Amino acid sequence: MENTQFINLLDKQGLDTFVQDVTAGLTAASKYIPVKYVYDDLGSQLFEQVTQQPEYYLTRAEKEILARFAPEIVQKLAENTALVELGCGNAVKTRFLIEALLQKQGKSLFVPIDIAEDFLFTQSQKLRATYADLEVLGVAADYHDGLEILLKYVEQPKLIIWLGSDIGHLPHAQAADMLREQVISVMNPEDKLLVGVDLKKSADTINAAYGSEPKTLIRELSHALAANGLKRVNQRLQGDIVLDNFDYNCDYNDALGCIEISLKSLCDQSATLGSTGVTVNFAQDELVRIHHSYKYNTQELQQLAQAAGLQLEQQWFDEQGLYSLNLLGLVVEP
Ligand SMILES: C[S@@+](CC[C@H](N)C(=O)[O-])C[C@H]1O[C@@H](n2cnc3c(N)ncnc32)[C@H](O)[C@@H]1O
Repeated sequence: MENTQFINLLDKQGLDTFVQDVTAGLTAASKYIPVKYVYDDLGSQLFEQVTQQPEYYLTRAEKEILARFAPEIVQKLAENTALVELGCGNAVKTRFLIEALLQKQGKSLFVPIDIAEDFLFTQSQKLRATYADLEVLGVAADYHDGLEILLKYVEQPKLIIWLGSDIGHLPHAQAADMLREQVISVMNPEDKLLVGVDLKKSADTINAAYGSEPKTLIRELSHALAANGLKRVNQRLQGDIVLDNFDYNCDYNDALGCIEISLKSLCDQSATLGSTGVTVNFAQDELVRIHHSYKYNTQELQQLAQAAGLQLEQQWFDEQGLYSLNLLGLVVEP
């Protein structure tokens, strides 16, 4: 294998899936856009800027944990482990694990799986240029397809990582289902899973991280990121949704342990989803949900592991106890 390879499974899924998904979302009783469609090159760059804002403690905390504990984490892995990442984004934090693995093994294979094809390609090339002993196999795909392809291309032990609190996009029970049905199914007994999970904390801290405060840069960036979902609908379907007619909305629900991120229609309006001929009506104040982010306490993390059929082997926290990294393995039958 060449030292950088790129597999694009998105061509296969193509426009049809996008059209079906966004049409279903925008014509549902409670409107939504699947969060994965927010991420193209622009969406990835906007998210990168979000992570650099002082209010966005999640990336800072996860980076702190990895900077400190990556050498300890890789000691828990089998020899010749490959690193697989779900939704790698700019992979900045991943570098701590890559460096620790290279230190331990001398060489390594990195398989980033991400739906934002161009951004993934750029990041894969950058990593390859930085680390001479790193083989990179970039997989442009939805998680499900990207994970399946591992069975064909990665025979050695694997550490699958899912950082950025992205597991929080799913309610706890669905997150366990996703791990059980899509991740465990491609794991062998010596493989491990490392998941970054945001912890429950004050509503003010969480709301601020998602841009609740008016006139802040993080709100502007979070708004632009959410609006990129509608922008992509316009671009890909030749739609005529007026982006300026939507405000940004986020609100942490303490009882649910979840923050909902949405766009709010500023007026009664309608738009046509171009090539589909579908007309969508938005009432004033109606929300279009972009994503949820579910938070956990330590007991809920144990329950997640158990429900997924995994065992929680070790946890690491940042100094302030805002965030956790969780190492999970398959349950070994006695
Ligand atoms: C919130 S960003 C996190 C990026 C990075 N893990 C971090 O912690 O900074 C989510 C990343 O996952 C990718 N992504 C989201 N949903 C996806 C899906 N269903 N399949 C593949 N990639 C996805 C996005 O393109 C984006 O790069």
